[in-house]
Amino acid sequence: APDIAVASVKAHLTQFQTIANNNGGNRCLGSTGYRASVDYVKQQATAAGFTVSEQSFTSGGKTSYNVLAELPGADTTKVIMLGAHLDSVCAGPGVNDDGSGSAANLAVAAAFKAARAVPGITVRFGWWGSEEQGMVGSNYYVSHLSAAEKARIVGYLNFDMVGSPNPGYFVYRNDAGYESLIKEYFALINVPTEIETEGDGRSDHAPFENAGIRVGGTFSGADYIKTAAQAQKWGGTSGQAFDPCYHRSCDTSSNIDDTSLDRHSDAISYALWALTGPASSPSP
Ligand code: PHE
Ligand code: CA
Ligand code: ZN
Ligand code: ZN
Ligand code: ZN
Repeated sequence: APDIAVASVKAHLTQFQTIANNNGGNRCLGSTGYRASVDYVKQQATAAGFTVSEQSFTSGGKTSYNVLAELPGADTTKVIMLGAHLDSVCAGPGVNDDGSGSAANLAVAAAFKAARAVPGITVRFGWWGSEEQGMVGSNYYVSHLSAAEKARIVGYLNFDMVGSPNPGYFVYRNDAGYESLIKEYFALINVPTEIETEGDGRSDHAPFENAGIRVGGTFSGADYIKTAAQAQKWGGTSGQAFDPCYHRSCDTSSNIDDTSLDRHSDAISYALWALTGPASSPSP
């Protein structure tokens, strides 16, 4: 699997920070900062060689957008999806929540296309709007899939907060195959993991899971407090939140742990690679 250069992920984060700076300090629902984020992701995913579209919807009387980017596989009857939410809260620029997942997926998309121009199955990325109002964009996307479109989706991997400044390494337990695949990567790099319990049902994988689609993902922690045992195995500071700037104005480009961002990005790349080999290879 391609190793993701953390500098390429950070370059996207710098752009999200700049977008917020130029648009009143945030990238939230209905804002010019959100629209600029959509335009940035569309341009980057197009440049990476994906077919890009946007889907608009309303949330709380405001217009928002999902961005979809697709790379057709040898077998187009199956689609693996990866996603992250592109909106921030209105309090700040949302660089960790969820600029980090959005940027990691952009970097993974580009590296993946460069290494495997025709995947075994179709790869589709989603950048969701209005997650912060209750996963409105991802819900809209899933609820507007036809039965045939839904049946093509073999699974969905979600990345919401992967660069937390006092990081943990949490793996979703929703699907046993995806759980073991992601754990396999962290075992290769000797990083211990724990099962994600802070936010189950609180991010964009929930609408997919509720529709009967297998889901997985990784997470570096939000406002739960790191224990002494967790600081022992992961470093960082016990007694402090994984992300003390969660949903605050200080969730800026300095609110990122580069090692966490790098490891989670590499884990995403590893999982996507394994899931898109020759069409005959089994999915976990
Ligand atoms: N979805 C939450 C938010 O954006 C954060 C979160 C991510 C919680 C992943 C749990 C798991 O605020
Ligand atoms: Ca890397
Ligand atoms: Zn949030
Ligand atoms: Zn989030
Ligand atoms: Zn509708």
